[in-house]
Amino acid sequence: MTDLYAVIGNPITHTKSPLIHKGFAEACGQDIDYRAIEGPLGGFADAAEAFRRAAGRGLNVTVPFKLDAFAYATELSEQARLAGAVNALKFDGPRILGQNFDGIGLVRDIVHNQRFAMQGRRVLLLGAGGAARGALLPFLQQQPLHLHLVNRTVSKAQALHEQLKSYAAGGFSFGSYADLANGCQPFDVVVNATSASLRGELPPVPASVFAAGGLAYELVYGKGLTPFLHLANGAAAGQLADGVGMLVEQAAEAFEWWRGVRPDSAVMIERLTVPLA
Ligand code: ATR
Repeated sequence: MTDLYAVIGNPITHTKSPLIHKGFAEACGQDIDYRAIEGPLGGFADAAEAFRRAAGRGLNVTVPFKLDAFAYATELSEQARLAGAVNALKFDGPRILGQNFDGIGLVRDIVHNQRFAMQGRRVLLLGAGGAARGALLPFLQQQPLHLHLVNRTVSKAQALHEQLKSYAAGGFSFGSYADLANGCQPFDVVVNATSASLRGELPPVPASVFAAGGLAYELVYGKGLTPFLHLANGAAAGQLADGVGMLVEQAAEAFEWWRGVRPDSAVMIERLTVPLA
């Protein structure tokens, strides 16, 4: 019998998740059907419940429903609890399990695909919204020498720092963009987890943050050289990446969680990669 999965979001027209999961299923010989559902704004739980009652086995959850999915799940992983958001649901009888694979997917892309170890390195994370929040625990688990969190609204960075500081093995700090501009040691890995690039904006980060030969990572994907990547490209950063690998890796995590089989993410990343410049 064909098992049913879907991605739910609003809007959902541009989602790549059906392509990714159908590709995984084909490559792994898994009999699944995967759809895209446009959830009504304010009506996530009803839409998810209707899918579950129609024998749905699991959902990927995207903007703007990750907090609704967090509330809807009956059991949460530690990662989902700390991220305060759920991006994948698994239906198991009456149990509704909530996970968040965004941060794990990001770390996997940085460490395995970009081949950039975070352990013992200086890492700068820009932003304190949902995306940054999901990345924090997986980043700290990589045991960087120092993780510095910067946000335009510093109080949000401070709150996240307070919530996660007990997980830090090395240095962990937060601050403002103004502090960075006043001079700082450069960072080996700089990750833009703000939503600035979606509007073609640049977070006010100075070019001096990029260490020579370091990695600049933009979470947004498919937008070419965003203002952030453009800045990094003209600065010392030796390697640039956008979020396509993270997208595929979080999908691979969800697929394995649902099906018990690990798909080959490299083939799919290659298929979806658009050159940065
Ligand atoms: P997401 O779920 O994509 O993280 P979000 O929760 O709305 O979206 O968070 C957006 C993040 O991008 C926030 O950290 C926001 O900073 P504030 O908390 O100060 O609003 C950050 N952001 C958005 N536009 C920005 C810009 N032009 N410069 C710097 N930071 C920006």
